[in-house]
Amino acid sequence: MSGLQSYSVWDRTTRIFHWLNAICILLLIMFGVMILNHNAIGIDSSEELILKKLHAWVGYVFIINLIWRYVWGFIGNRYARWGAVLPVGKGYISSLKEYLAGFKAGNPVHYLGHNPAARLSVSILFLLITVQAMTGLVIAGTDIFYPPFGGYIQEWIAPVGVNPADLVPGTRDLYDPDAYAEMRAFRSPILTVHEYNSFLIMFLVPLHIIGVIVTDIKEGSGLISAMFTGKKMFASKPVDSEE
Ligand code: HEM
Repeated sequence: MSGLQSYSVWDRTTRIFHWLNAICILLLIMFGVMILNHNAIGIDSSEELILKKLHAWVGYVFIINLIWRYVWGFIGNRYARWGAVLPVGKGYISSLKEYLAGFKAGNPVHYLGHNPAARLSVSILFLLITVQAMTGLVIAGTDIFYPPFGGYIQEWIAPVGVNPADLVPGTRDLYDPDAYAEMRAFRSPILTVHEYNSFLIMFLVPLHIIGVIVTDIKEGSGLISAMFTGKKMFASKPVDSEE
């Protein structure tokens, strides 16, 4: 193909975030599905505890990477910033209508950064993974006494006269039974959100992948390789390019 020009779009931090996030989510889904189905696949309670710990450790990497991306949305390049990612701002709705009409007609408006439809879908993904990170942190505290909430949970369920730090996950010997029951009731809706939200994530991840493949075919801009190289290719200047 001739006449194509290369434009820089995704900075290195955004690309590293994207692939680290994808790897973490795949591992979290894998361990999460195993925890959820531990009885069916014959995992005993000590093995389940190991799985929960592995799941939480990957979860910390996932959360740190996500927090760094929130910060990068304020200091990264113009395509990584929240103003170019969130589906808000003057003219957003009309640009979305225009983009969808062009897409249907086989002639989409070319955007270097996220197109208006992608801004919507990426923001939904950010929202879901944020809910998953927050609920995960709470249940890691209630379940395996992991930080940042584990210490408070141990204090909550330790009987008078017992050092909260001596409470071990998985063995209820030292727990105060009433406080433990209260804590489980507190945790139950949070675990339910973590579980159902994970189903939404498992549904949307394949849709996200299908979406980028279809857009890449329609646009021919190298959308997928751009998450490796940082560059997209266009025959004419994209509407949001400053180059
Ligand atoms: C995309 C991210 C994530 C996905 C898809 C995911 C998925 C899941 C699933 C399916 C379960 C099983 C739920 C159940 O047993 O009812 C689970 C359990 C758990 N998750 Fe996550 N999770 C994610 C992130 C996190 C994070 C960031 C943490 C904390 C650092 C975390 C901590 C936990 C813990 C401790 C459990 C065990 C709960 C239990 O069954 O007792 N998760 N996760």
